[in-house]
Amino acid sequence: MYAVTITEPGGPDVLQWTEVPDPEPGPGEVLIDVHASTVNRADLIQRQGLYPPPPGAPPYPGLECSGTIAALGDGVQTDDGDQQRWRLGDEVCALLTGGGYAQKVAVPVGQVLPRPTGLGLTEAAGLPEAACTVWSNVIQLAHLGPGETILIHGGGSGIGTFAVQLARALDTCVITTARAGKHGRLRELGADVTVDYTSDDFVEVTRKTNGRGADVILDIIGGAYLARNVEALAPDGRLLAIGMQGGRKAELNLGTLMAKRGMLAANSLRARPAAQKAAIVRGVRDDIWPLVESGAIRVIVDSVLPMSQAGQAHRLVESGDHLGKVLLVNAAA
Ligand SMILES: NC(=O)c1ccc[n+]([C@@H]2O[C@H](COP(=O)([O-])OP(=O)(O)OC[C@H]3O[C@@H](n4cnc5c(N)ncnc54)[C@H](OP(=O)(O)O)[C@@H]3O)[C@@H](O)[C@H]2O)c1
Repeated sequence: MYAVTITEPGGPDVLQWTEVPDPEPGPGEVLIDVHASTVNRADLIQRQGLYPPPPGAPPYPGLECSGTIAALGDGVQTDDGDQQRWRLGDEVCALLTGGGYAQKVAVPVGQVLPRPTGLGLTEAAGLPEAACTVWSNVIQLAHLGPGETILIHGGGSGIGTFAVQLARALDTCVITTARAGKHGRLRELGADVTVDYTSDDFVEVTRKTNGRGADVILDIIGGAYLARNVEALAPDGRLLAIGMQGGRKAELNLGTLMAKRGMLAANSLRARPAAQKAAIVRGVRDDIWPLVESGAIRVIVDSVLPMSQAGQAHRLVESGDHLGKVLLVNAAA
């Protein structure tokens, strides 16, 4: 098969469409003929040599894919640890630990989801990573509920465009940060308040919006926003740190956090054990798939490129000018 290999750590040009050995599904895994994958920000960092794949993961980038089931590993048909039974030819999407930029990928069966009814196979590639990341934080951990206020940083990102729609579907007040050019689209997706982080103070805007601050903050910036995020939290607020685009270190005022009875959680989906990922995937299928199938949540596609042009797709995501997901499609699929 062909896959996008990282010839050496570096810029987008180190991504090369190369012939590599076919993967084999191990026990409890299925083999997927990949139709599409997506560019996640983590792929850029992996390409630069700063985010090596976890042990056992394929060396190629790609944290999610869609496609059809091409082979079943031992134990999958009779005991896949779930009620879902998969058959050859089923159209699916999957959360991967890596290896989506390829023609085939093997994945634990617990990380496979059916293609949502009404959603094309190409768009379906853009769901698993955002749905699992946002569900595991905003729902499983923070229990965001109706009437609450959520502050979503980076609303125009792949993660953000999903989170804004989910938060709207949950009947919450949605505040999001983004450069001004993205505000119109974000309001269409369900944002009540948009903040241009280059000129406006999100702490002030959040406090003014409801008089108490954000009940939940989904943060992708990390160090540079930590102090202001704690300031922006409402009493009993939950701050979810899922990205470090603004650095990994900062001073935390525990006094401010304690006074608010605030919760700070930080996690990375990719590094979670397979059993945790399978539980998250089940939660996503139960809670999120109905919202996708009803049209309440859509995959916001910025652009679709051939997988062999992954370097060009990385350049686009690196610019930050995209809104939503950049998809990579296999020509032969
Ligand atoms: N922990 C996890 O399990 C997990 C899983 C998936 C993703 N993530 C993280 O989630 C983030 C989003 O991932 P993605 O792949 O969806 O990224 P993406 O599509 O590349 O989007 C990144 C966005 O960050 C925004 N941004 C840059 N500086 C900002 C700032 N100072 N304030 C607010 N927004 C800013 C940019 O939008 P503007 O044009 O508006 O600046 C850009 O759209 C990344 O940090 C990624 O590492 C974490």
